[in-house]
Amino acid sequence: MLLLRTCAELLRWCASLRLQQRPLHFVPTMGALHEGHLSLIRRAAQVQPAAGAEPVHPGVLVSVFVNPLQFGPLEDLATYPEDLEQDCCLAAAAGAEAIFAPTVRELFPEGLAGLTRVQPPTYLSDVLCGQTRAGHFEGVATVVTRLLGLIRPDCLLLGEKDWQQLVILRRVVSDLGLPLEVRGCRTWREPDGLAGSSRNRYLSPAERSRAAALPATLQSARGRLAAGESLVAPLLEWLRRELELAGLDVEYAELVEPFSLRPLPTLPRSPSLALLAVAVRCGSTRLIDHMVLMPRPPIVAIDGPAGAGKSTVTRAFARTLGLTFLDTGAMYRAVTWWLRGQGVDLADAMAIEPLLAGLTLSLSTDADGDLQVSVNGHDVTTTIRDPAVTAQVSVVAAHACVRSALTRQQQAMGERGGLVAEGRDIGTAVFPDADLKVFLTASVAERARRRALDLSERGYPTPELAELEAQISERDHLDSTRSVAPLLKAADAVELVTDGMAIEAVIAELVRLFRQRIPEDAWPESAPV
Ligand code: PAF
Repeated sequence: MLLLRTCAELLRWCASLRLQQRPLHFVPTMGALHEGHLSLIRRAAQVQPAAGAEPVHPGVLVSVFVNPLQFGPLEDLATYPEDLEQDCCLAAAAGAEAIFAPTVRELFPEGLAGLTRVQPPTYLSDVLCGQTRAGHFEGVATVVTRLLGLIRPDCLLLGEKDWQQLVILRRVVSDLGLPLEVRGCRTWREPDGLAGSSRNRYLSPAERSRAAALPATLQSARGRLAAGESLVAPLLEWLRRELELAGLDVEYAELVEPFSLRPLPTLPRSPSLALLAVAVRCGSTRLIDHMVLMPRPPIVAIDGPAGAGKSTVTRAFARTLGLTFLDTGAMYRAVTWWLRGQGVDLADAMAIEPLLAGLTLSLSTDADGDLQVSVNGHDVTTTIRDPAVTAQVSVVAAHACVRSALTRQQQAMGERGGLVAEGRDIGTAVFPDADLKVFLTASVAERARRRALDLSERGYPTPELAELEAQISERDHLDSTRSVAPLLKAADAVELVTDGMAIEAVIAELVRLFRQRIPEDAWPESAPV
């Protein structure tokens, strides 16, 4: 574990990491490290899966710098807790390779007076904590931008605990076009719910037990909403009263839209989220906390043409995020497989419609989390992947009677949320109010290449690439021109073209898109990416 005190030492360390072609993950702190920081460092140190090659071990850098720019004249700059020796031990044990702990003069050699400042948009920085901490977020944005300029990390990890700071820094990184990922990580909490903060160590034992009322009251607010409370003003009034009764002085208690931080006059309706944000004083210590309100567990819609690798990445994405995988492609395949055995012309919708009443289709997951498909009690998981089924599925899937039967079944499965569905019309017809819609695609040539590989790996004869390309183009044409539920990119879908991307990179991108909409505090990660 290296302690870097100068910018020159820092630059040398960053260069050596780049020479080793390892990603640099950066956790900025003001020191006095606690479990919340350590959870960020552990996340930063997680091994990254890589396509084929050895897994990648990121180099983790932690900065410890009590930034004078973000303290107001009456705030606790002079008394802010410092213990660099202990910070080094804790950070090393959590997986950091280096700590950058410069002096003010080292980081800002020209002094603070004439410094270039980074001013975030005021509608983000002057609300919530900004109402009483003038200049605070400008100070945060300025120092973090300076650190990012020096370090040039691949990933910046920040706690969701300081939600407003996270929203602002994401915006700064995006507006300045800085080439890095900003990852927000779940709030770490003490056993009684108090969110981890360096300032918790200011609390006397009596204050510490009063402070627990902050997370407890936010939890009760969720309970009131679940019990039917529907008006914002009485909810906030109740919240303030409860906190004051617990001996906490309320600075603000507000319900805002989590990404724009605009006040919400009414409670969110699915799929929107809301942030219940609170700042209190417990004695002389200022504490903040929040709760993300999510009307229902998230739904993700992944649409796209055949052969774009949707089911492979969707399955892995679902597992990573603890979502149920709804493979609608498998449902259409199962119907096709079953109809093939009924001696019916697959192009004849009139003949097919009455038969559908005799079909019971069910999806489940086995002990390994793999999808199992059964038709009238028979396991068809493998047989529905037969090329003969593949060749006829788009004809069957174009019948209105088949689509409406399966759409109804899919919508019923999605009623409680918490799923990711892949198909052709998920974002347009099945779940038009999905939290995230992705249109996953790849060029015809790339899809033909993948299809050839898949067929040969499964021991099927592999046609020439030109023939596969012709089949895929024909399938695209059929899927996008059919009158019923054509393959369309939803207006609000994000298009992801996966040519040249390894599966792991596609999954990581899906997780990144998901996290732009759903914080970990609302829907925690279930497995490392
Ligand atoms: O969250 C903090 O500790 C600080 O605001 C940060 C991001 C390290 C900037 O000084």
